[in-house]
Amino acid sequence: MAGDFSVLWRLVRGMPSAGSHQDRLEGFYGGQAKDYDQFRERLLQGRGDLLTNLPLAPGARIAEFGGGTGRNLEFLGDRLKDCAEATVVDLCRPLLAQAYQRISERGWTNVRTVNADVCTWRPDQPLDAIYFSYCLTMVPDWWRAAENAIACLKPGGVLGVVDFYVSRKEPGDGLVRHGGFARHFWPLWFAHDGVRPSQDHLPWLLSRLERLHLAECKAKVPYLPVLRVPYYRFIGRKPAG
Ligand SMILES: C[S@@+](CC[C@H](N)C(=O)[O-])C[C@H]1O[C@@H](n2cnc3c(N)ncnc32)[C@H](O)[C@@H]1O
Repeated sequence: MAGDFSVLWRLVRGMPSAGSHQDRLEGFYGGQAKDYDQFRERLLQGRGDLLTNLPLAPGARIAEFGGGTGRNLEFLGDRLKDCAEATVVDLCRPLLAQAYQRISERGWTNVRTVNADVCTWRPDQPLDAIYFSYCLTMVPDWWRAAENAIACLKPGGVLGVVDFYVSRKEPGDGLVRHGGFARHFWPLWFAHDGVRPSQDHLPWLLSRLERLHLAECKAKVPYLPVLRVPYYRFIGRKPAG
């Protein structure tokens, strides 16, 4: 509970407005890094489902873009041991320090952390799978991060995304439509903490990748008993040619 108050205090203060993107992330997360996982367990829904559905062959090379504390690797269970390499890429050093501690404690010899911007980081060789978990909404130039992820994949590799979003007023065929309140409220609510739920991320992903999995859902928000926030899970394959 004390951890919750510390995180809530940081959320109320919001994302610092000065400095580089890295400065702002570290200013925001620095004081809550130790309590991050416990609070986000309730706020960031669908992460386990994304990782469970991510197709991974033994020997896969994978990366989480904006991987923070590395918590999501736990959702892979025994499949993580079968990966040749897993990389947690993040700009925020206090969160990566938590990831590093987790890797040491678990004895994961095939996992490493990299302090880098997901808009520009490149692996030594193309990857089989990359996923973003509640990261794209925190990258100001999100399309650069998404383009870069696709460029880092092998042809036929898979990209997974789970994140908050809002629908367009007129979404495409088969997509969920959110009411006017949701479309306007959630971007305003999250902006204070540097999170930008967008109407463009999902249509962009659908236009660039072959759809393997899509779920449009709503989740409870800690300490907001009445409201439900929209989020999606998407897995797509990079075209082979
Ligand atoms: C809401 S947290 C999610 C962390 C983790 N993926 C999870 O599911 O718990 C967003 C993460 O994206 C990272 N991030 C934001 N912009 C980034 C960028 N341009 N490059 C690398 N990491 C970034 C933040 O530092 C933070 O760790």
